[in-house]
Order: sequence, then structure tokens, then C-alpha cells
Amino acid sequence: MRTRVSAHQVTPDYIAKYTEAYRRLRSLPSSDPRAYMMQANVHCAFCDNAYDENGTAVDYQVHNSWFFFPWHRWYLYFHERILASLIGDDTFALPFWNWDAPGGYTIPPMFDNPNSTLYDTKRNPLHRNPKVVDLDYSFSESNRTPQQQLQVNNSVMYRQMVTAAKTPSLFFGQSYRQGDSPGPGAGTVENTPHGTVHVWTGNPSNPNDEDMGTLYSAARDPIFFAHHGNVDRLWSIWKTLGGRRTDLTDSDYLQATFEFYDENKNLVRVKIADALQTENLRYNYQNVDIPWVRRTT
Ligand code: C2O
Repeated sequence: MRTRVSAHQVTPDYIAKYTEAYRRLRSLPSSDPRAYMMQANVHCAFCDNAYDENGTAVDYQVHNSWFFFPWHRWYLYFHERILASLIGDDTFALPFWNWDAPGGYTIPPMFDNPNSTLYDTKRNPLHRNPKVVDLDYSFSESNRTPQQQLQVNNSVMYRQMVTAAKTPSLFFGQSYRQGDSPGPGAGTVENTPHGTVHVWTGNPSNPNDEDMGTLYSAARDPIFFAHHGNVDRLWSIWKTLGGRRTDLTDSDYLQATFEFYDENKNLVRVKIADALQTENLRYNYQNVDIPWVRRTT
């Protein structure tokens, strides 16, 4: 079992391993399916209508539907296995950017170091440390105090995880079956805070808010994987919140498959049904405080 840790609580030893793994990833030949740009382009390929559904002229898309959570879970799984194998450490696990708690509100410092292999120049220069993340961001700077921002962030989290996400389809997004048009509708968290943190991180001076602010380039920024670690963690947390908050059981969903390259450069096919419990994938998340869950208004 590998434990994904809060990106704000990592040790120097962890940072050394992670930056070395990225150094190796970035120096693989560009034709290697594990290479940095190939990994980033896997995301692009499944989000900007690069593929059609098998034998049809219908665009294929993993966002804005019930594929969002499981596709990204598998994407991170293989990315993590690739990094682990590049440094020969089977215990290596990705970090998560804990932007739903005050201790995780800033760009995690290891990603904000211009000398690090985890740095990306295409980010909003106004949002470097110690700027606090705005989970309600829409391209304008708020002048909230950190305390006011904490209240806004907590209420965004409470709404998206609790009051507005009482059923599986509200949380996971609309059904998406063979022959359907792409992007039938996102779940609560996919839109906000997932989408707002993307655009908050990207640079609005670039044509499409690159890197993080647009799908084709988002995964070029190593922080993408820490961001999605937290999104993935919210899936696990949501299922502990009670009521009807359980995984989808539709067999079209459970039997759907995706293909990825693994750490041995083999193309493998994986199924959504095998991704519902992180323990089946041999990882879990460090337990950290969840401030928004206590909100009562
Ligand atoms: Cu595939 Cu954060 O998006």
C-alpha cells in the first residue's frame, strides 16, 4: 500500500525523490510513451476530440460526464507507477494539493521553486506564494482577506460535496454511453473546484490560460497531478459523507474500459469497475483535517 501525502507536508527526502523522478521523466526520449510530453499528451488526446469512438464519427471525451473521476484515477495511477519505476522505488506515491484546507491553500512550495523539475513557467505570476487560492475564481482577483477567503472556500466545498451532491449522478456527472455525444454534463466537483483551481493556476496572459487553464496543455504542468490527487481524494471522501453517496452501479459505467501505457511501456486496458476503491489500486490518502465538513450553515 502506498500513501499519497499532502504536498504541503512532504519531507526533504520526498521532494528529492519526486524531483529526481521528474528529472528522469523529462529526459526520456520523446518517442517513449512514458516521456514527460507523451504523458501530458495522453490528457490532451482524451479531452480535445483527438479520437472518435470506435468505428463512428462521434468525438470521444473524458470530461463533462461520469468518466471524469475514473479516467483521471487511472491516468494518475499509471503516471505514479511510471515515476516510481524511474527511481526504482515501489513505495513512491504522488502528493495531493490539499487546496480544500487552509494549510494547503497556496501553490505547494516544492512546485513554486523555479529551480525545480516540478516548476512550470506558465502559471499566473500573481498566484505564486503566499497567495491564497480562490476556489470561486473566475479570472478576477478578489480582495478578500485570508479569513474571508477561508469562508468562501469552505462554503464552496460544502456546497459542491454536500448540499449540491446528494446523489451519484449529481456528483459524478451525466451518463455517457456508446454513441452519445461527448460531454453530456459534469458533476459538481468537476466544475468547481476542479475547474476553478485549473484556471486559477494557469496564466491568463497566455492565449488559452496555459498551462493549467486549458485542457490540451494542463498536464504539462507537474502540478496537474497533485491537483488531481486532491480531486481523486474527494471522490473517496464523498463516499464517507452518508445518505445516497455511493458509487454508480450502472453496468455501462462499470464495464467501460480505458487504455494507458504502463511503467513497462506496455499498452494495457483497464476497467472502471476495478478503480472504485483506491485500496484495489494499492494506494490511499494521508488523513488530514477536513474543515469544510463541519460547516453547518
Ligand atoms: Cu482532465 Cu483537470 O482535467
